[in-house]
Parts: sequence; C-alpha cells; structure tokens
Amino acid sequence: MDLSSDDARLLSPNLNGSEDENELSLRPKTLDDYIGQDKVKENLRVYIEAAKKRGEALDHVLLYGPPGLGKTTLAGVIANELGVQLRITSGPAIEKQGDLAALLTNLNPGDILFIDEIHRMSRSVEEVLYPAMEDHSIDIIIGKGPSARSIRLDLPPFTLIGATTRAGQLTAPLRDRFGCLFRLELYTPEELGTIVTRSAGILGIGIEEDGAMEIASRSRGTPRIANRLLKRTRDFAEVEGCGVITESEAQRALARMDIDEFGLDNIDRLLLRTIISSYNGGPVGLETMAAAIGEEAVTIEDVYEPYLMQIGFLARTPRGRIVTNAVYSYFGLPVPGQQSMI
Ligand code: ADE
Repeated sequence: MDLSSDDARLLSPNLNGSEDENELSLRPKTLDDYIGQDKVKENLRVYIEAAKKRGEALDHVLLYGPPGLGKTTLAGVIANELGVQLRITSGPAIEKQGDLAALLTNLNPGDILFIDEIHRMSRSVEEVLYPAMEDHSIDIIIGKGPSARSIRLDLPPFTLIGATTRAGQLTAPLRDRFGCLFRLELYTPEELGTIVTRSAGILGIGIEEDGAMEIASRSRGTPRIANRLLKRTRDFAEVEGCGVITESEAQRALARMDIDEFGLDNIDRLLLRTIISSYNGGPVGLETMAAAIGEEAVTIEDVYEPYLMQIGFLARTPRGRIVTNAVYSYFGLPVPGQQSMI
C-alpha cells in the first residue's frame, strides 16, 4: 500500500490553519451564507444582535471541534456581522507576553482577536489573557531586577475568539473566561453538497447535483476537504473530462485520488487494517497504534478518528480502540464470531 501519497495531505484538514487565497474567497461572509451548524448559528445570531443593541463588545467566544469545520470562517462571519475588524493569530505564534500585549493594545473598541489553536499557548502568555478578558486591562513589567515595576494598561473592550481542536486541553481558568462556548459538529452530506455547489459557482465550474453529492459524501463531514476535492475534481474535469462535474466525472476523479465511496484514504485503510491484522480488531492503545502506522497520535485523534467513529467503523473503549464488524465487511473479511454462509 502506498503511504507516501499526496492524498494523505489532500485529506488532512491542515492543523495550522493556514489557507491559500482561493480558499479565503470561498468563505461565506454572513451568517445567512454560512451553511450548516444551525444551532450554533441561531444562538450566535441572538448574541450578536444583543451586543449590537447594547453597543457592547460581544462576549468572548470559544469554538471547538475537529479541524476543517470552519472555525476561522465563523470568526470572519462574526466580525463581519458585528462590523468590526478581525485580527488573526495562533497560540504557538504568540511566543512572549509582550507579543500578546502588542496585539491587545493595538485593538480598536469592539474588535475581535482570533487565536487559533489556543490550547497551544504558553502558560505565561495565558496569564496575560486573564485580566485582559475579564477587566480589559493588562499588567506589564517594565525594567529588570530590583527596579522592575508593574504598570497596568487599560484596553478597549474587545472580543476574544479562541479556536481549538481539543477543548479538554484548555486550563480551567481560561475556559471559564469564555462567555459563549460552541462545539462545531461534522457536516451532513446534504450540507456539504450545498457548500460544494456554492463553491463551484464561485470557482466558475459547472456542476450537477449528483456530482456535488458524490464529492460531498466522500468529504468526511468536513467543508475544507469538500472544497479541496472540488478543486481537484475540477482539474480532472477541465483537463481530461467534459468541463462539467457530473456524477461519473466526480467518481472518476475521486478514484484517481484513491478516495473510496466512504471518503476513506490510504491512511484510514492502513489504520483499520493494522488494528485487524496486528491487534485482532482491538482494543489497542492510541500511542501503540500511532507507532504501528508511523503517524502522530494527535493526528490520528484529531484528523482520522472523528470521522471513522462517526461512520461507525471505530469505537473507543476504556482499554483502547476497536474496529467494528462493519470494517470486516468493508474489507470483504469474515466477521469474527459470525458463521460463514458457505
Ligand atoms: N465554506 C467553508 N465552510 C462553509 C460553510 N459552513 N458554509 C458555506 N461555505 C463554506
């Protein structure tokens, strides 16, 4: 099995949040254009309206869930709906307390500071955030040694939007300072179909409904993957096909990318096969599994597992991960404990 393929990258929603420009233009700007996450949207609409009515900054927002579900996109939508500026940074990018102080003191009243991967922020930087979030002030140490002094700086009212794939890794004091917590869920194929059709319109490529659904149903519940698969399918349709994404055009392109009808790629298949062949179907611990297939444990946990669990292929037990009977059927293997018909 070829593991070094580009498809692994193609299917991994990137964890560092960097996007190409094209993807930026596919992003919706308003809540009405943002597809899916209906419950989150309904509540956000109320909180945004209320903050605007009172002329206050929106309370701090924490967005969490698997990568690629539109956390940065949603932050952009919130900023646009509020009519304020969005400043984007990430936990690992803020190295020193002074870096965060510089970001915070440059905000205008009501602005949004978006910190992606907020769970990766250092503790010392995090401590600057507490008074900033609670009292709109920061304490800065000036000088060194015995002559060092602490001065308090007032900040304009602002909104912090934190995004994380791992809410459980946030410290309690940080988590408690967010007034609005939203968990983003994997999208349904129908929602992804609507996103793919909308994106195809923006990219100027013709697409039939069945073609959109074919891409959507293989996108692992993730808009970022759906948009990537759409762009690559467009390449195949334009170079080797009829220039329109029909169902068969999509099927042909996705087969060329080794993405099967469930949206599984080579890494998913290796992971599932390894649990069956080396660990009798499980249970197997996350770290053991990661070492066996040569992937990082966090990548397995954040990128591969959520979807495999959603489609009922993988389950977590207190003793480790197990594959379900559906996986044996998927590989055409006899299901353990079930009598063969022949
Ligand atoms: N592109 C990426 N995520 C989207 C969403 N939720 N709605 C519409 N377009 C998107």
